Amino acid sequence: MAEETDLQSLVTRMREIAGSARVRVAQAGDAQAVEDLRIALLGKKSELSGLLRLMGGLPAEQRPEAGKAANEAKQEISDALEARRSAFAADERRRRLAQETLDVTLPGRPVPMGRRHPLTQTCDEIIAIFTELGFEVASGPDLEDEFHNFEALNIPANHPARDMQDTFYLAEGGVLRTHTSPVQIRSMQSRRPPLAVIAPGRVYRCDADLTHSPMFTQIEGLMVDEDVRMSDLKGILERLIHRYFGEDRPYRLRPSFFPFTEPSAEVDILWHKDSGEDVWLEVLGAGMVHPAVLENVGYDSQRLSGFAFGLGVERFAMLKYGIPNIRLFYENDLRFLRQF
Ligand code: DAH
Repeated sequence: MAEETDLQSLVTRMREIAGSARVRVAQAGDAQAVEDLRIALLGKKSELSGLLRLMGGLPAEQRPEAGKAANEAKQEISDALEARRSAFAADERRRRLAQETLDVTLPGRPVPMGRRHPLTQTCDEIIAIFTELGFEVASGPDLEDEFHNFEALNIPANHPARDMQDTFYLAEGGVLRTHTSPVQIRSMQSRRPPLAVIAPGRVYRCDADLTHSPMFTQIEGLMVDEDVRMSDLKGILERLIHRYFGEDRPYRLRPSFFPFTEPSAEVDILWHKDSGEDVWLEVLGAGMVHPAVLENVGYDSQRLSGFAFGLGVERFAMLKYGIPNIRLFYENDLRFLRQF
């Protein structure tokens, strides 16, 4: 090229560059090759960029024509690159679409349906029998103090029920409640008579075999008013037994002992065993609230009287459904849970 920049040869060279660029772009084999070409043809080190720098040496009146030729060359190359790039992008898109085809006729993956746990169902069923009679649902803490779990219930310090073998004592003081009876105390402390409450909850004892678990479920009942009698207790319990185990279920009240009731009874139902034999099975404890318990919560035991009862929910469910092992309730095996 001449010493001085020559407009005509500059313009010609730009057209040549654009022409040969179109051929090279058309031969690019993939998107990466197109990108490499873009840098080689339009980048700072490209021949075209070099020519643009030379344009500074042209007389001012020639610069517009040179500029126009440069812009046209650039535009031509960009258009060719863009056309090739979008052709590759379209290919890639078609390929991905073909690969990611979704067969909407395939069957879905089933999500197993949950349902209410049999213990929850049993609790709800028993609670409904009492709320229908006007009982309120009450609750108390699983971590209890010895006053509510024992003392206030007339269970003295040396009573066998406090034995280390039955009770989980906490290192920091207090116990895991061994029964729902402390809710009797809490209910009487927080309400004024007349009161009628039903209290479901978890209880804990150091005990485990086919029919005992270290954690199980009880429902406590309590009614306190003027003139509550043993016959009221019997009527309520008969209703419970007949509703839950069937209207013709034979039952009996058998004298028993609990520190917090006097007199005390256990309720047995007549059970027809698979062996053909009929046996009496104990299903709950009950009694008239001991006057000492009423006095412990500041109630006047001369004016007020009450009854109380407590039952094991697992036992009720095991009898009704013929469940042989208490641990089935806690293992969450869907094959078991689905049967209720
Ligand atoms: N708390 C007793 C237990 O866990 C059951 C019980 C018996 C509760 C008699 C009562 C009752 O309210 O009156 O074995």
